[in-house]
Amino acid sequence: MIASELYKNIGTVLISKEELQNKVRSLGEQISQDFKGEDVVLISNLKGSFRFLSDLAASLTIPTQVDFISFTSYHGGTESTGEMRIIKDLKMPIENKNVIVVEDIVDTGYTIDFILKYFQDFRIPKSVKICTLLDKKEKRKVEVPVDYFGFVVPDLFLIGYGLDYKEYFRELNYIAEYNI
Ligand code: PRP
Repeated sequence: MIASELYKNIGTVLISKEELQNKVRSLGEQISQDFKGEDVVLISNLKGSFRFLSDLAASLTIPTQVDFISFTSYHGGTESTGEMRIIKDLKMPIENKNVIVVEDIVDTGYTIDFILKYFQDFRIPKSVKICTLLDKKEKRKVEVPVDYFGFVVPDLFLIGYGLDYKEYFRELNYIAEYNI
């Protein structure tokens, strides 16, 4: 199938550009308030969180550092395999830092669970919080602490604002359902 055909299957818009902007701004205010007088490291788990990370960082009013990891259990499919792989590790030390792991979506929870354990075992941050734009609560297989979330979403295949299907649609400014 050619790429332009894929774009015909974009379904209902669940979260508009304006709703995303407002929510990200309020999350930024909340985090800035919670960490007043401190500084934070935002750690973006690629690739889905790159849009959210960028807008969230811009909405913070506290000293902020950014780093990227790529930990995945999907290996190109649409269902988590549960087998975690580290594609890219941190570039900067996070020992004694306030870390906020930034995700586009928490689904089964396997990815966040692995990241938390990895940081606790091999890095010693001062604190670790989880901030996800979307929380697909009903799909959870393992309990994980979600400290900040934007929207609880139903069990639909979602695309846009970082989320992909076959690596397309990350560029969209809204979140929509995708009809596979
Ligand atoms: C997605 C998403 C989270 C993870 C959530 O990443 O960005 O990291 O899946 O799912 P889980 O709670 O079931 O573990 P994916 O591996 O699809 O890679 P991508 O971000 O590059 O699209």
